[in-house]
Amino acid sequence: MKRVKLWDKEFEISLPNADIQTAIKQMAVKMKKDLEGKEVLFICVLNGAFMFASELMKEVELNDAEISFLKLASYSGINTTGEIKELIGLNEVITGRTVVIIEDIVDTGHTIKEVIKQLIGKGAKEVKVATLLFKPDALKVDIKLDYVGLEIPNDFIVGFGLDYDRRGRNFKDIYTLVKE
Ligand code: IMP
Ligand code: MG
Repeated sequence: MKRVKLWDKEFEISLPNADIQTAIKQMAVKMKKDLEGKEVLFICVLNGAFMFASELMKEVELNDAEISFLKLASYSGINTTGEIKELIGLNEVITGRTVVIIEDIVDTGHTIKEVIKQLIGKGAKEVKVATLLFKPDALKVDIKLDYVGLEIPNDFIVGFGLDYDRRGRNFKDIYTLVKE
């Protein structure tokens, strides 16, 4: 598929699956080097990061890693609402742990900043961030991203977990909104 239509909008392919996989493999190598010997708790931010987390976890060779999931919703349509919801579904003990957040994309950075803050509030010893995608031109907050798969322009995208009004998450490639 070169172009897809979701609801009222057209998208065209911008990152083929092979490029995404290459970026994930490189990230996995770096993670192994950094985190070897630690008892890491990976936390996948649902829904968007499900596909990325699945691929990344298969590539990272860490013996004593654990994986959990949390959910929050702060995005509707193609604009950030700015409202940050609480973290739900996380039952693990966070106190004293090395946590790596797995996120699909860092756009303004508000979401990830809030997640970091809440995990530190729950007593995490160390919080690292792994994001598949990063829009440097959209960033509005001061945060450190430890692992970035691919830097992309400030355009709306779908696919590989990311949606436009709930659709497009299942695409194996990433598509960019075609501006009329
Ligand atoms: P931020 O708080 O502005 O960094 O937005 C982060 C969240 O917004 C991500 O976790 C995504 O779920 C969503 N998001 C940001 N940019 C896009 C996009 O281009 N397409 C789909 N979802 C996006
Ligand atoms: Mg997300």
